[in-house]
Amino acid sequence: MSTARERVAVYPGSFDPLTNGHVDIILRGARLFDRIVVAILRNAEKHPLFTPEERLAMARDVFREHANVDVDAFDGLLVDYASRRKASVIVRGLRAVSDFEFELQMALMNRRLGPDIETVFMMPAEQYTYVSSRLIKEVFALGGPVAGLVPEVVEEHLREKRAKN
Ligand code: PNS
Repeated sequence: MSTARERVAVYPGSFDPLTNGHVDIILRGARLFDRIVVAILRNAEKHPLFTPEERLAMARDVFREHANVDVDAFDGLLVDYASRRKASVIVRGLRAVSDFEFELQMALMNRRLGPDIETVFMMPAEQYTYVSSRLIKEVFALGGPVAGLVPEVVEEHLREKRAKN
């Protein structure tokens, strides 16, 4: 539960799957804000690898010992969700200049839709600047190692998916 005086940030994304780059940003956000809500978009892709429930369960497992990290799923406009959560900040990670153009568009659109909500960009640790959920899925699907790039629980779930296919 958030209290009136808490500074709440929302960290939205598809998280299909959560990577160590995401984890790095979330932990930085947890130090900066009273509460950070990891907000998993339910309908980001038509064919996600993991269901929203699987993504929720994995992220909750990773942050189970972090009292000020909440994990939730959302539908609809991000600014509406942020308002419902009484968040005044949207956190997004910036890895490289190539991220910037789309992130700027989103930040400015979100500012138009929700002028009271500020987007804050954070840089992950250098070792994660090339890590993306898309590349993780591709490397894993082709049999490459992803250890150290995703939380262990995510690696286990990737292995389970592969065993089933
Ligand atoms: O991890 P992603 O796929 O880069 O995250 C994109 C996300 C979830 C942040 C973005 O698609 C989003 O906020 N979607 C919710 C719908 C919305 O509010 N769209 C307008 C944002 S400009």
